[in-house]
Amino acid sequence: MSEQTARNKIIIGNWKMKRSLSESVKAAKEFAEKFKGFEFDKKEVVICPGLVSLTIVKKALGDSEIQMGAQDVFWESSGSYTGEVSPRCLEEAGCTYVIVGHSERRKYLLENYAMIHQEAKAVLNTSMIPIVCIGEEAEDRKTDKRDFVLMNQVQQALGGVDLVGDQQAIVAYEPVWAIGSGTAIEPEEATYAHKIIKLALNDLFGMKVAKNNIRVIYGGSVTNKNIKKFANLEGVDGLLIGGASLEADEFYKICKAV
Ligand code: PGA
Repeated sequence: MSEQTARNKIIIGNWKMKRSLSESVKAAKEFAEKFKGFEFDKKEVVICPGLVSLTIVKKALGDSEIQMGAQDVFWESSGSYTGEVSPRCLEEAGCTYVIVGHSERRKYLLENYAMIHQEAKAVLNTSMIPIVCIGEEAEDRKTDKRDFVLMNQVQQALGGVDLVGDQQAIVAYEPVWAIGSGTAIEPEEATYAHKIIKLALNDLFGMKVAKNNIRVIYGGSVTNKNIKKFANLEGVDGLLIGGASLEADEFYKICKAV
């Protein structure tokens, strides 16, 4: 199995709220079959199914080296928080990763960076790895505020967070205007944004920890058709894939290309 090291590329599929339980189980079995023989020693592959299907998806994946992540988490370890799910439950369900602060949650559930900060810290209190989502809105980009917005989001989400030993985090750069739009960012712009994010991480964590413990990945309308543009981009340590992660065949092609 690919070790969880920040040197490995990672491809993460976010199934969002797009599958029923039976569809999730069926897909997980297809994924496990399709990825037999995949070079997991060089790349990590993760799927993030809906919350209620986590345990049955884990079972359906069987002994596959595909890992599982959750799409969200609450920041307390237990208590009177109706409707929420604790990091410990996700860990027990078999998750190794947790997405925090996806822009759809920022938009529809009004999550803010104070919450995202707490969620990332809560995940780091377990054996799981947080995937912290950041990214500018179309308006920020149009008005030349992108660099400031990205640095500010990194600071708000991860300022004061410690990564101890070989503990890891992932920052997913997902420009909000590119998610689900069919229009991915141009590779040069992605490289530039990743540089800005890495500089902000250097400031917060120091160069050594930023380099060895944190991967910065891109997400937003990556598909099998445009994967060539992103597969080997400088400074891009992996991808977060939404729509194109739903079908085993397409996701496999993307993972192979990286
Ligand atoms: P998309 O979604 O690939 O469908 O644009 C990416 C995401 O929301 O993580």
